[in-house]
Amino acid sequence: MYRENLIGYVPVANNNWDFEEIGIKHTQYLTHFFHHWAAKFIPQIPQNIIHEYGKSGDIVLDPFVGCGTTLVEGKLLNCHSYGIDINPLAIKICQAKLNTIDNELLGKFISWLDYYNKVYQSSLEKGQLKLFEEEKLPENPSLFEESDKWFRDDVAKCIKLVFQKIIEYDSNTKNFIEVGLSDLLKGMSNSRSDRTMPCLPKQAKYYDKKHDRWIDNDTREINVFQRLSSQLKRMAVALQQFHRLTKDEIICQPILADAKNLTKYIQKANIVVTSPPYWSAQNYQKLHFLSFKVLGLNEPGQAEIGRNASDYLNDMDIVIEQLSEILDGIFAIVIGESKENIHEEVKGLILSHGMREEETIKRNILNHTFFAKAVQQEFIYIFSNTSKKRV
Ligand SMILES: C[S@@+](CC[C@H](N)C(=O)[O-])C[C@H]1O[C@@H](n2cnc3c(N)ncnc32)[C@H](O)[C@@H]1O
Repeated sequence: MYRENLIGYVPVANNNWDFEEIGIKHTQYLTHFFHHWAAKFIPQIPQNIIHEYGKSGDIVLDPFVGCGTTLVEGKLLNCHSYGIDINPLAIKICQAKLNTIDNELLGKFISWLDYYNKVYQSSLEKGQLKLFEEEKLPENPSLFEESDKWFRDDVAKCIKLVFQKIIEYDSNTKNFIEVGLSDLLKGMSNSRSDRTMPCLPKQAKYYDKKHDRWIDNDTREINVFQRLSSQLKRMAVALQQFHRLTKDEIICQPILADAKNLTKYIQKANIVVTSPPYWSAQNYQKLHFLSFKVLGLNEPGQAEIGRNASDYLNDMDIVIEQLSEILDGIFAIVIGESKENIHEEVKGLILSHGMREEETIKRNILNHTFFAKAVQQEFIYIFSNTSKKRV
């Protein structure tokens, strides 16, 4: 069993789902660290649920798959897994975590980055960045409309050079590189480093309250080549480990779609594990706006659940009804505690579709991942369901 060999493996002692023992590094093993994602769940949650309720060859589904935590854990546990998300960036991240890439090509690309890193460093040392730019970098620094507010010209030009280089790469390798770059974009931009949401400071020089330091966006070193090279090296090692631990014949498929139409894509599942969006106008588009713009992705638009708080329960009802049609097995849903009792209302919806309550786990969120610090406790509701097709 792979779990015992993993740095992230922590057995649930006495049904302790708080996972007090694990720190952030234990949630970032294998490909899980590839990209930040708002309110992603720690991999131990789907891992334990699939391990406890599933068996090899089962079909796992996550209708709100986000950055693919369930897909990675499903495949590691020998289950065919499908994940739906309406956000194209989410699907790109899932693909980067799962798909095989051309390692030789990636190696050549990393050498190219390392070469440019040296050129960049020496041109900086000699105060000749301008010369370097004139010789090698694209003339127009624009990445998207008004990108000059978000990226310094030298940074934008280096990013453009990367895109020029990978334009003809095969889609998996290109996607892998784009995801690595996407994770770095906010840090390479002029956005305040003490905010989660991209946000411009009033002046280039500002005080970062979170990290207790002054930042000067005009002069700080932003070496795109060096940053991307080290990110991709770590990612490549992790992806190889992941492929060594998993079997090629196990299907693992991210699907770009609206979960409200899930029966169009999925006809059968044995385990559904999911953490749906929050009801309070969560907007993944704004949060990942730089990636959307730089990578030229289409907006998920109003179909994104949680953008409009008033439609939240209606939207969830549609998804749950469809799940109840195709699911023959276990439905585990992770949902934050709310003052407004939305978690109870969602539970009521699930029961109203004929699912049977198996277990309710209330856990303290001690190991927050990105952006969800406001929620301190969450529920893992576990139900069983008999597919309507079988009845
Ligand atoms: C809390 S996140 C899921 C995080 C995921 N568990 C992970 O570990 O990455 C909720 C996800 O629901 C997605 N979402 C919102 N509305 C959706 C819809 N109508 N159909 C499919 N996915 C949707 C969002 O894009 C977001 O990725």
